[in-house]
Amino acid sequence: MTEETKNRDGFGSKLGVIAAAAGSAIGLGNICRFPCELGENGGAAFLLVYLIVVIFLGIPVMLTELVIGRRSQSNTVGAFKKLAPHSKWPIIGYLGVLSSLLIFASYSVVAGWTLEYIFKAATNSFKGENLAVIEQSFKTFHNTGWLNVLLQAIFIFLTGLVVFKGVQNGIEKYSKILMPMLLVILVVLAIRSITLPGAKEGLSFLFHPDFSKITGDTLIGAMGQGFFSLSLGMGALITYGSYVKKDDNLTSTAFSVMISDTLVAVLAGLVIFPAAFTFGVKPEAGMDLVFSTLPMLFNQMAGGYWFCLIFFILLAIAGLTSTIAMLEVVVAYLSEELHLSRKKATVIASAATLFIGLFASLSLMDHTPLKIDGFAFNDFLDFLTANILLPVGGLLIVIFLGWRLGKTEFFDEVTNGGQRKSPLKHIVFFIIRYLAPLAVAVILIAGLIK
Ligand code: PHE
Repeated sequence: MTEETKNRDGFGSKLGVIAAAAGSAIGLGNICRFPCELGENGGAAFLLVYLIVVIFLGIPVMLTELVIGRRSQSNTVGAFKKLAPHSKWPIIGYLGVLSSLLIFASYSVVAGWTLEYIFKAATNSFKGENLAVIEQSFKTFHNTGWLNVLLQAIFIFLTGLVVFKGVQNGIEKYSKILMPMLLVILVVLAIRSITLPGAKEGLSFLFHPDFSKITGDTLIGAMGQGFFSLSLGMGALITYGSYVKKDDNLTSTAFSVMISDTLVAVLAGLVIFPAAFTFGVKPEAGMDLVFSTLPMLFNQMAGGYWFCLIFFILLAIAGLTSTIAMLEVVVAYLSEELHLSRKKATVIASAATLFIGLFASLSLMDHTPLKIDGFAFNDFLDFLTANILLPVGGLLIVIFLGWRLGKTEFFDEVTNGGQRKSPLKHIVFFIIRYLAPLAVAVILIAGLIK
């Protein structure tokens, strides 16, 4: 072990690793993005494809990232430099750093909204209002450009503060307590929602697949959502993997993260769709599903004031544990490869994010010129990153492990140098080497041609 690797910050406990990785996975992607994608892409059919994606692609890609990270003890660019010296493979790392910045820029827009909704909840501003009023207030809010930018800047600043404090003191400590709380509150909300009058319609939308609805868009949307939700394809888990201790079990970490992430997404669906059908919000209503439907749901609940307030606080925190991972990718790269201090790296990365994020934020106003190909710049960024850059990143990462790093190193890492049995390792390696690259490539091409 070199001096440099010995002195690296790292996760303190096994639970801490899972909490931090699950913290990065669970976020606005599960609670806001997943229902929107599902609503726009055919409901249950989308859910089915999504589940197949997370099980057969999500776990292998996640494990690959963790293996590369722990093996190299390095940031996402440094990892490929170490494992494949003097080659072009570090391009994967640079691509990851770029994806992280772009995702952070667009993600922080919605993350900023959660702060506004904490304020609205605290001041009880939804009480007794009907859907039209709540929808209008959401619309007025995202047309107030300066406020959106301000909240986004605050969110980026908060992320910077935690990342600056480092891995164990920052990321791990917060994730461990708050993620389980989020799960509990979602279960309570789901119970309330499925006892509403529109529950039957909502549940059938979620669970009765209409296979004729599976199109190229469904495939590419579900794959993009899977990569986005599990934080794959941009080096977040390479970076986190590099902080994992040598005797931790990477396979079970990947499983636990996948299961908790998927559970939260399905729970979010269970909260949102029965409520949406009850109040007459269309499944394809986008962010209104969260920012209008949920306040309506809280209005129907005993103690709704507190549920609303706690929910938006937890949503903001779930967003924060995800933005921490995005920023950490960039900061680890800047500080380890370009030898900047952690503080300088955090300031530079945050400033760059805010600069791009500004355009993303303002592009959501009604009469904005900030459009690309008819899409608001923010939606364009979201599509580009989730549906294209992350799958491409994931594709290259599995190709790297399957064809360059190879079986021996993979087995050594998943068995912790032979100390642990890993009965599925042959199958998983087969998927990584052959099936995963093929599946990602086919879906990407099929989706893009469509
Ligand atoms: N997985 C996070 C979410 O679902 C988003 C994310 C993407 C976080 C990429 C880190 C890296 O909210």
